[in-house]
Amino acid sequence: MPFKAVVFDAYGTLYDIQSVAAVTEQAFPGHGDIITQIWRIKQLEYTWLRSLMQRYVDFAVVTRDALSYTLRILGLQADAATRDRIIAKYLDLDPYPDARAALAAMKDHRLAILSNGSPAMLDSLVKASGFDAPLDAVISVDARKIFKPSPQAYALIEETLGFTPDEVLFVSSNPWDVCGAKAFGLNVAWIERVTPDAMAAACNKTDLVAPLTLFKALRSQMDELGFAPDYRIAALSELPEIVAKHEP
Ligand code: 2OP
Repeated sequence: MPFKAVVFDAYGTLYDIQSVAAVTEQAFPGHGDIITQIWRIKQLEYTWLRSLMQRYVDFAVVTRDALSYTLRILGLQADAATRDRIIAKYLDLDPYPDARAALAAMKDHRLAILSNGSPAMLDSLVKASGFDAPLDAVISVDARKIFKPSPQAYALIEETLGFTPDEVLFVSSNPWDVCGAKAFGLNVAWIERVTPDAMAAACNKTDLVAPLTLFKALRSQMDELGFAPDYRIAALSELPEIVAKHEP
């Protein structure tokens, strides 16, 4: 059966969250990497904690709170203008180099984003990258006030696009998101940008594991949650072929 829609995660999948490192490094020379990694780890942790606590605030607030935590524990002081400048990069993240071509190659399909991002954040992001043209819909979990990987968040795909989970290919590089989408019943392609061998080699290279390596060890490898993706690919550029193979 052909896929009727291809739905993407945003942060880390179409857009490179590591691209904030240039801005964090500029604001705090020598601290860019550690800020970037703790910020993202805490940002995701707060989405899960808030969902469990039933104390939803949108992703813009979560992102700001996670940055506050990060700067505080590192003992870094930032005035309001510096904080705003760092946060602003989330509205203009660099897309992965192959994202534009992959979207263009699948233009005959319904294409959408399903993200934890707030509607305003996602609106800025897709406009800044020019992805508003190839995308048919940008779906924010804000409509349900609960974050992925809650099933209520993935249910927004069918509510918005009208396709059942078996008609949709969901694409994410985030292992926790892959497991959540599979548990919900979607077809799932995992972008595995870091192979297990490369991961092990990076961790064993020196006694001192760099913040980015630790981040990758926590967030780039498949989780032990009992779910596996249907497709395991190294880059977005491999997607069009998978989608084409599902044509009748
Ligand atoms: C998303 O875009 C946070 O990466 C996650 O939903």
